[in-house]
Amino acid sequence: MSDFDERIKNLDLTLFDKIESQSVPEDRESLLACQFAVRELRSEYNYLEIGSYLGGSIQPYLPDDRCKRIYSIDKRPSRQPDERGVDYQYLNNSTARMLELLREAAPGKTDKITTIDGDSGTIDPAQISEKIQLCFIDGEHTDEAASRDFRFCLDVLDENGLIVFHDAAVTYNGIADCIEFLKKREIRFRAYNLPTIVFAIEIGDFPVHKSPPVLERLLNNHVGYLFSLQSNDQYRQFTNKAPFKLYRRFMTWRKGLNKFE
Ligand SMILES: C[S@@+](CC[C@H](N)C(=O)[O-])C[C@H]1O[C@@H](n2cnc3c(N)ncnc32)[C@H](O)[C@@H]1O
Repeated sequence: MSDFDERIKNLDLTLFDKIESQSVPEDRESLLACQFAVRELRSEYNYLEIGSYLGGSIQPYLPDDRCKRIYSIDKRPSRQPDERGVDYQYLNNSTARMLELLREAAPGKTDKITTIDGDSGTIDPAQISEKIQLCFIDGEHTDEAASRDFRFCLDVLDENGLIVFHDAAVTYNGIADCIEFLKKREIRFRAYNLPTIVFAIEIGDFPVHKSPPVLERLLNNHVGYLFSLQSNDQYRQFTNKAPFKLYRRFMTWRKGLNKFE
C-alpha cells in the first residue's frame, strides 16, 4: 500500500495542509471519504470542481495517482452574490495564483490540471474532453447557480458518478431543485448529507454510500443535521424579535394556525 493509499484510508487531514481551504475539518473528512470511495469503485477517475479559489479543495487530488485529470472551473468575479443576502469577496483571486500555490504544494503533479475561467452557464460542456466520475460544486452560493452548476456536472458526468455540493445549508433550495430535476427525468440517484454541510448525489449505479468511511458518516447524521439547522438559527432568532414576532403572532391568530381540535 502506498503512502497516499494509507493517508486517504485514514482520512488524513494533513492532505489539506498546504493550501488554505474554505471548509471545516468535518467537511474535509467527508470530502476525503468521498474521494476514498470513488477510488475504491474506479482504478482511474477524473475530478471536476466548480469554485476553486486558492486550490484548497484540489490539493488532495494531486498526489492521488488514480486521479488522472482535474478540471477547475472558476469565474473569479470581484464579488459574488450569496443566498445569505450578503455579497462575498475573494481578494487577489486569480488562476495564476492558484496554480502557483498548487505547484508549490505538489511539485511535478500539476500537469493533470485544466483550468477554465468562467461560469457553467456559458462554458460549453464539450470543453471537458474526458468523462468525469467525481464533481464538487463550491462556486457561487446561490440556489440558481447551484442548480445550474449541477446540470453542467450532469452533462459531463460518466454514466455512473458522484456530484458533491459544499455549503448545502446555504444552497438547499437549489439542491432541492436538482433532486426534482432528477426525479422528473427519471434519472436513478441516491442523495444524502454528510457532515457538516457536504451534500452528495450518487448518479446511476455508484454506491459510494457503501464505503465504510462514508457509511459511518451517514449513520451519524446528527452531525450534519444539527449543524445545518443551527447555522440557520440566526434567521429564527431574527424573526422572533419584536415587531416581527408580534406580526407573526397576529397572522397565526388570524389564520387560526395555532389551534388544534
Ligand atoms: C468558496 S470559494 C471556493 C473554495 C474552494 N473550493 C476551497 O475549498 O478552498 C468560491 C469560489 O467560487 C468562485 N465563483 C464565484 N462565482 C462563480 C461562478 N458563477 N462560477 C464559477 N465559480 C464561481 C469564486 O471565484 C471563488 O473562487
